[in-house]
Amino acid sequence: MFLELNEEQREIWRWAKEFADKEIAPQVEEYDRKATFNHELCKKIAQQGFFGAILPEKYGGQAIDYVAYALMTEEIARVCSSTRTLFSVQISLVEMPILKYGSEAQKEHYLPKLATGEMIGCFGLTEPNAGSDAGNQQTTAVADGDHYILNGQKTWISNGSIADVAIVITQTDKGKGHKGMCAFLVDTKTEGFSARPIAPKLGLWASDTSELFLENVKVHKDQMLGNPGDGFKVAMYCLDQGRFSVACGGVGVMQGCLDIAANYAMEREAFDQKIGEFQQIQHMVADMSCDTEAGRLLTFRAAHLKNKGVRNTRETCMAKLFCTEAAQRAAYNALQIFGGYGFSEEYPAARYYRDARVLTLYEGTSQIQRLILGQDALGIRPANGKESPTTTFDRLTGHYPELAGVK
Ligand code: CAA
Repeated sequence: MFLELNEEQREIWRWAKEFADKEIAPQVEEYDRKATFNHELCKKIAQQGFFGAILPEKYGGQAIDYVAYALMTEEIARVCSSTRTLFSVQISLVEMPILKYGSEAQKEHYLPKLATGEMIGCFGLTEPNAGSDAGNQQTTAVADGDHYILNGQKTWISNGSIADVAIVITQTDKGKGHKGMCAFLVDTKTEGFSARPIAPKLGLWASDTSELFLENVKVHKDQMLGNPGDGFKVAMYCLDQGRFSVACGGVGVMQGCLDIAANYAMEREAFDQKIGEFQQIQHMVADMSCDTEAGRLLTFRAAHLKNKGVRNTRETCMAKLFCTEAAQRAAYNALQIFGGYGFSEEYPAARYYRDARVLTLYEGTSQIQRLILGQDALGIRPANGKESPTTTFDRLTGHYPELAGVK
């Protein structure tokens, strides 16, 4: 079985944990209250090589596996979801799709710069009228000789105002539906491209969330990511990656909530004893503890499939759905254990509570994950595509067919 981490995974976990505690934690409250993106911290993350986590060494990456990446993501989220969002978008929504769909020239140009943080990326899919219905893109790309002219608007784009490059999903041929879409790598300094931060918002105060505007943005056809008509496929691949890192973020939020609530419960006294000695508090902590472990295992399962290069939309959706819903429960319980103090910004419970909320919204709402998983379970549409065998536990042989041989 794959429940034991290997030495390299453990080492990466310790590295990320130490960085999160020493470098991120001391600054979290200040930047959150100022509702400001922390550029200095972003530089430090880059200097550590975090942004190159999964990329192959030839593109300046660290070539770590997805289990190690899950642990890194969890450790950052345990301390700060705003920072985790920056990290996840850069790697999962930008680097990974370039690695999969980019031409060699695109990989050589963008990946080393993204790995070192010289460039920050964002992913432009959502539009004012195309959220869950991602296939209904209104942003257009019209061919013009060797170029395309892009027009449209994107919204709720993490890293949007700080990005140097944006993956922009467009419609090129409405008549062809999903097959008429194209993805482009757009340098944000290109004339006609602009971004505007969305503020104030409920949580993730130190993360940049923006609208993007594209007015006659001219991009060379070599900037297309994938082939003409691949836009929807590219977007779905981005989400298969991004949802995984959001799931790991949910695990981190649960662990963070568990840590602060357990500490507080064993300090705070009521009725002449520590509140942690009351069964009602123990029950809440027990639920948080089970959810954290269960969620982590779901992320590890998706991670193993990713390491094997096997289609994993179903397992990623499961991890995303469970971990982000469970993070809501954990944040609720943590705040409840803090009682009135939980309602104050003096303690971290309020921030966890606010920041957890977006997890069930971005990169596909819980309803979208359930739609994908429900159709899969009913045999209406296999989430992993028709060709991929299921990874459901086989009750006759006792294995997950996809995981046979995974150590
Ligand atoms: N990988 C590869 N192909 C996929 C796929 C995947 N994960 N999912 C679907 N496809 C393929 C299908 O097989 C189908 O192919 P064929 O036409 O060849 O049969 C094609 O794509 C169309 O699929 P559907 O018919 O299932 O498409 P749909 O229009 O019904 O939509 C959906 C499916 C699951 C609802 C999808 O639109 C979806 O995931 N919506 C949610 C969008 C979302 O998550 N947005 C979040 C934005 S990102 C963000 O939050 C920004 C940020 O900065 C954090």
